[in-house]
Amino acid sequence: MTRTISKDVVTKINETVRLNGWVNSRRNMGKIVFLDMRDRWGIVQVVCVPNELDDVSKEVLNEVRPEFVLEIEGVVQARGEKQINPNSPTGTVEVLAKKIVVLSKAETPPFEIDNEERQANEELRLKYRYLDLRHERMKQNIVLRHEIARATREFFYKEDFLEIETPYISKSTPEGARDFLVPSRHYPGKFFALPQSPQQYKQLLMVAGAEKYFQMARCFRDEDSRGDRQPEFTQMDLEMSFVERDEVMELNERALIEVVKKVAPEKKIQEIPFPRMSYKEAMEKYGTDRPDLRKDKEDPNLLAFCWVVDFPFFEKTEDGGWTFTHNPFSLPKPEYIEDLMNKKNIESILTTQYDVVLNGYEIGGGSIRAHRPEILKTTFEIMGYGEKEIQAQFGHVLEAFKFGTPPHGGIAWGFDRLVMLLAGEPNIREIIAFPKTADNRDPMMDGPSEVKREQLEELGIEIKN
Ligand code: AMO
Repeated sequence: MTRTISKDVVTKINETVRLNGWVNSRRNMGKIVFLDMRDRWGIVQVVCVPNELDDVSKEVLNEVRPEFVLEIEGVVQARGEKQINPNSPTGTVEVLAKKIVVLSKAETPPFEIDNEERQANEELRLKYRYLDLRHERMKQNIVLRHEIARATREFFYKEDFLEIETPYISKSTPEGARDFLVPSRHYPGKFFALPQSPQQYKQLLMVAGAEKYFQMARCFRDEDSRGDRQPEFTQMDLEMSFVERDEVMELNERALIEVVKKVAPEKKIQEIPFPRMSYKEAMEKYGTDRPDLRKDKEDPNLLAFCWVVDFPFFEKTEDGGWTFTHNPFSLPKPEYIEDLMNKKNIESILTTQYDVVLNGYEIGGGSIRAHRPEILKTTFEIMGYGEKEIQAQFGHVLEAFKFGTPPHGGIAWGFDRLVMLLAGEPNIREIIAFPKTADNRDPMMDGPSEVKREQLEELGIEIKN
């Protein structure tokens, strides 16, 4: 007999079925025992009456406790009028057990699964994340994340984008954060870096002629975690050729609207088209470059998107030099290119950068890029890079740009933040299957951990005490 999943039981009245799943709860009512059996799709009530069961199953039933994994054969019955549970999708039926087999026993879990009240603290939840993910709310978050990824991919497939993977073992990219370094065994003393974003690769894909690229990319930044920050996180990363700023913005606006409508139809987008404001206006009016424009902050279903544009390209560093505010690969707005090339009025140069903001969170950002090598090189010079450093760090990009580079631009969504907001969760750890703690540890795998001396020796690394 093939397995019947919980949600299909309602279609099999009077049939014998085989159920597989976890015991969500057990209630003893005198001689009769009710088991709520849980699988990925829901819960089915199983009634165990001693004289319907074979002798072995009767014995087995005595030891069954929550979270045991069982196989149950039984007959689906319609419930009487009074027994119907309108709150459960399978509440009109129950399964009368004939045979019960224990596939796997379970110790008492460190926190209750059948209780959405979060008694457990986060440390314990993350240590036993595989149990925490059994909670209905966590399961729904994981399913929602999947649905958002699917709708996003479908949108960009339809728009003829190519999904292309880029390396995770890479070279240090300046995105403003600290790199995670990967020591090279073959070249002791040299390091790869985990990419802070696929920025350089996607631009090189434009040189390669991909024209429309996207991927769901993992990004790595060794920075302190916060509610909306993880050391590794996911971007929907995109780049396209022969486009102007507004085309990239309009395409992404359409994508976000379609994704919301598909996966979260209960949500209301406050204003379409998304309002746009300059960085200056945002700072003057709201005191932040990611304003929360919701007219009613009590409404959990209200989504207030907006675009922020016209950011300053550079800001002063502590030692009086210049650094980029967003992305060193950006093109200034056309009217400022001359100033950039002459290294004049640097503080007033505006970039083509656009950020997309949702309910006070920056959920994405991008720009049109400097595709002419002399513009890119001047940007690095303004930031105080010498010729040698420019060649060492960006020589490959500058060289690539000599071989016929299309004008291009792109964006990256902070995918975790988008999911968090659509799920109505207070932080991104709730929508990542296996996140790090707020202080960047993994209590489940117990990482980071020490490694064997031989491993370090192979890498030519010595630990200072
Ligand atoms: P940026 O650094 O702005 O741009 O990143 C894009 C978006 O990613 C999200 N984000 C994060 N989410 C979770 N944890 C983090 N530590 C984290 N850091 C950033 C934010 C942000 O808006 N290469 C450029 C994009 C481009 O220009 O195309 C980039 O990475 O939502």
